[in-house]
Parts: sequence; structure tokens; C-alpha cells
Amino acid sequence: MSTHISDVLIIGGGAAGLSLALRLAEADLKITLLSKCELTEGSSLYAQGGIAAVLDGDDNFEAHVKDTHVAGADLCKDAAVRKVVEGAPKAINWLIEKGVKFTLVDGAEYDGEDSAYHLTKEGGHSHRRVIHAKDATGREVETTLEEHVRQLDNVEILENHIAIDLITSRRLDNHQGFRCFGAYALDINNNQVNTYGARAVVLSTGGASKAYLYTTNPDTSTGDGIAMAWRSGCRIANMEFVQFHPTCLYHPYAKGSLISEAVRGEGGLLKLPNGERFMDGHHEQAELAPRDIVARAIDYEMKKGGFDSVYLDISHKDPEFVLDHFPNIAASCKEYGYDMTQQPIPVVPAAHYTCGGILTDLRGRTDLKRLYAVGESSCTGLHGANRLASNSLLECLVIAESAADDIAARLAKKQDSLPELPQWDESRVSDPDERIVVSHNWDEIRRFMWDYVGIVRTNKRLQRARNRIALLQEEIVEYYGNFRVNNDLIELRNLATIAELTIECALTRKESRGLHFTRDYPEKRDYAVDTILTPNNFVGHAPIPEWHS
Ligand code: FAD
Ligand code: SIN
Repeated sequence: MSTHISDVLIIGGGAAGLSLALRLAEADLKITLLSKCELTEGSSLYAQGGIAAVLDGDDNFEAHVKDTHVAGADLCKDAAVRKVVEGAPKAINWLIEKGVKFTLVDGAEYDGEDSAYHLTKEGGHSHRRVIHAKDATGREVETTLEEHVRQLDNVEILENHIAIDLITSRRLDNHQGFRCFGAYALDINNNQVNTYGARAVVLSTGGASKAYLYTTNPDTSTGDGIAMAWRSGCRIANMEFVQFHPTCLYHPYAKGSLISEAVRGEGGLLKLPNGERFMDGHHEQAELAPRDIVARAIDYEMKKGGFDSVYLDISHKDPEFVLDHFPNIAASCKEYGYDMTQQPIPVVPAAHYTCGGILTDLRGRTDLKRLYAVGESSCTGLHGANRLASNSLLECLVIAESAADDIAARLAKKQDSLPELPQWDESRVSDPDERIVVSHNWDEIRRFMWDYVGIVRTNKRLQRARNRIALLQEEIVEYYGNFRVNNDLIELRNLATIAELTIECALTRKESRGLHFTRDYPEKRDYAVDTILTPNNFVGHAPIPEWHS
């Protein structure tokens, strides 16, 4: 066991973590960056559609702000929306300066910031404003940022290191204004828990969609940061708003293969198995309605007709156009036997994005001093009850910049040192006797979350889910207390917390709004309130003025 000390500990190497590390690197601080897999493995790497930004002369900030509020079902915080929307062009230019190559309009020459970039359209947007790198925007952004971060001398990158819990003043019995001092993390290759002390800690651990049986997300999305923050006394908000992406390839082996909303943006149509369109009967924007509406419409049509899937059809477009815009999606469909240039492809909704998370202000500050959260693990108020397509990578970039500025200014002002940090205590645990308990509980959580806390909810189903999670929590807590930690156990413990928080938020909301639809309260109330959960060990002060509602 060893102790590593740095100025800033960043947990997570997605768009939020990497851009924050790069922004901070200019501030001459020693940074440690932990990632539980390879550095870039996370949702950011798989992002397809692109990044929303007002970049066209005919578009304007007010329109992007309005679209975000409409998609968010009147629950978005206006200050958050304006900050992110107005920060978008600068964030895109920063990426271009770093070398990200976005797709150009047909025939245009590459000329950096002044290039003529192709903008695509996605659900809920009133204008073409999604800048992208073909259909693999996330890969282009992540690999470019990775290249820069790996060159920095003041950033130590530790891959295959999974953070377990935060080290706080309460844990040290040192009530220095309830502060965060670092984290314990398991070095997976050496099977050893080390102590990572830091003057500021950033959770950029991504979302929690792995709590569901079917998801577009990679295995990393187990909500670790949200669960760690909750255990450390931070408030968590709006977890009932689980975004289901409407179009995920339906195939037994495809494992959450996303079909970008940009396919609909470029003319793709949703059809029933008999070839009939159905979205115009559900919303005036038809296939390009906000995501919650499209996912719910698909769920409705599948249940009504007893279908296994619906179909997404772009075969009426020129095959060259389709292959040029969606080369990776076409290849992935081909792998499973579908030629999207020639035939409709079967699609179903799947859990995609966690709109709720650790309550933060617009600098990423959480309830706990010196603890920040940025990206999908946070809840800044931008997304309200339903995220507008392609606003997520954008939020990662914009908030990471202001968090980096805040951290640099705070650490420069106060040259404090850390107290002595205790080592991880393994004196009372033994090696796990059987692994089946962990895998069984993993499966059970993901299945009942899908069945009982899915696209359409009822009090009865939510109550069933609450009973199940209470039993599982007992078992998991006991198991965690008795056995040496490993990757699966750490994630299972977090996933159980995520399930519990999601169920509690869903039971608290007595209306249907955005992504939360319940048959028991089908109407939207005429006033909008956030669901804020406060832990029993709440750190006791609420320094986030935006969240007093
Ligand atoms: P992530 O990119 O998920 O990164 C989290 C990081 O934290 C990973 O490195 C992970 O390994 C690490 N980590 C997690 N827990 C721990 C731990 N305990 N210890 C150490 N490390 C840990 N959004 C858009 O705006 N546009 C799109 O086109 C788009 N397309 C998408 C397509 C897909 C298939 C998916 C899944 C999502 C898409 N999204 C899109 C959403 C968007 O990609 C994510 O919301 C965003 O990338 C989240 O970034 P992040 O940095 O917060 O988290
Ligand atoms: C997609 O490409 O459809 C995903 C976009 C997003 O999640 O914002």
C-alpha cells in the first residue's frame, strides 16, 4: 500500500476529465488522473452524433436556449443553460485548436477555425447546429485530448485504478469544514488499495446507465462518482430522469449498439414492422421530437402491437450519402447482417444518459469543500427533466473550463497542506468465498431496474423495486464489509446505490415530466421542482445558491 500526493486528483478520463486536466495543466499544478480501465474507455469515446453549438449565422443563442428548455420540460436552470450554450462556440474553437478534425461541408478545404463545417440535426433542435466528426465524434475528441494529456509532465496518468471512496475530514475525524482530502483507489493490476491525497478532487466518472439491463453505455458507466459523493455526504438530484435513447440496434449480440439520432436528422424514418410511419401521430416534430417523446412512442407502439422492435429506415437516401455520413454505424449494422443503405434496421430504446447526479454549481463545486464534479456524474441544472441531444459533451467542455479556473484560483489563494491520511484498512476482511453472489446481484439489479423503473412507471412497480433493492443492499453491505474489494464488488456496491437513489427520486415525483412518466400521475404539474435527496450524513452546509429551490 502506498500514498500518492498531488495538488489535484481527477477521477475519470472522459471528455470532462481530460479537458479539465488539459485546462489545469497551464496552472503549474501536480495532477493525478485515475481511470478504471484504459484512459479513454468511457461514454465519451463512443459518442456519435456530435456537439451542439451555435455556429451558423442563421442560428442564435436564444434558439439553442429555448430548445434546451423545451426538451428539459421546463426544469432546466436558465443560468446553466445560458452559460453552456453561450460557451459553446469557444469550446468548439478550443477543440479545433487542439487538433480535433470536424467534418467539413462537401468539397470544403480544411482551414482550422474558419473552415466550413458540416452541421447536422438531431431531435429537439430547431436548427442544424451539431458539429461532428462523421459518426464517431467522441473518438476524434477523446484521442486528440488524450494525445495532449499524455505529453504533459505534470499529469500522472494511472490506468486500471478504480476509486473506491473519498477521504473526507469526517472519515479522518478532522472536521476542517468538511473537506475532501483525496480518495482510496484499487490498483487493479497489483490488487492493492492505495491512498491518493490531493488538495482538490474532481469526480468525472460519467453516468450510471449500466444500472439497466439494456444500455448504449460501455461497462464503465456504473455511477461510481455519484455513489461516492452520496456516501461522503453530498446531495444528489433528479436521478429519476434516466434518458432512454430511442434507437439502439436490436440484435441479440449487438450489446447496446447505438444508431445515432443524426440518422433521423439526415432523413431516417421510424416505421412499424408493416412499413407504416408512426411518429407523426405522436408529435408535430415526428422523428425529430425530443428524445423522451420518441422513446416513449416506440415503447407504446411495441407494446400495443406486440413487436420486438420498430424499424429505422434511411434506405430511401442515396447509398453514397448514407455511407459518407454514417460509415461506422453502417459497418456495425453490416456486422449484424443489416445493410442500412438497402433495408430498414430493427431498433429499440435503451438506457443512455443520467440527467441527474451530484448537485453542483456552474464551477463544478459540490456540497463538500474541495470536491468537484464535472460531466455526466454531475447535475448542474442544464438538462432538467430530459437532455437535449448533443448537449452533453458540450457541458463536459464548458464546465471543465470553469472548474479548472476555480480550482487553480482556490489552490493559488490557499497554500495549504494535507493532514496525515490513514491507509486503507484490510485487517478485518478475507478473500471472497464465492463470486456468484456478486454476479447474481448485478444481474438482478439491472433486470428489475429495466422492468420496474423503465420508460413507463407506476407506484406499484417502483415500490416493488424499492423492496428488492432494500434486500439486496443488506446483502451487499454485509459482503462488502467481510471481503477484500475487487472491481466487480466496488461497482456492484455503487450500482446498488444508484438504483436506490433512482427509485427514491422516482417515488418522490408525483407527476409526469420529461423522462419520468408514471401512469399514477400522468399529468405534468404547472410548477417545476427538482428532486433533491439529502444524505443522513449531509455535510451540513449548502454552498450552492443555484440549488435552493
Ligand atoms: P465518460 O466519458 O463516461 O468518462 C468517465 C470516465 O471515468 C471513464 O474514463 C471511466 O473509466 C472513469 N471512471 C468511472 N468510474 C471510475 C472510478 N471509480 N475510478 C476511476 N475511474 C473511473 N453526448 C453528446 O453530447 N453527443 C453525442 O453524440 C453523444 N453520443 C453518445 C453515444 C453513446 C454510445 C453514448 C454512450 C453516449 C453519448 N453521448 C453523447 C453522451 C456523452 O458521450 C456522455 O454523456 C459524455 O461523454 C460523458 O463524459 P464524462 O467525461 O462525464 O464521462
Ligand atoms: C446520438 O448520436 O444519437 C447521441 C447523441 C447524444 O446522446 O447526445
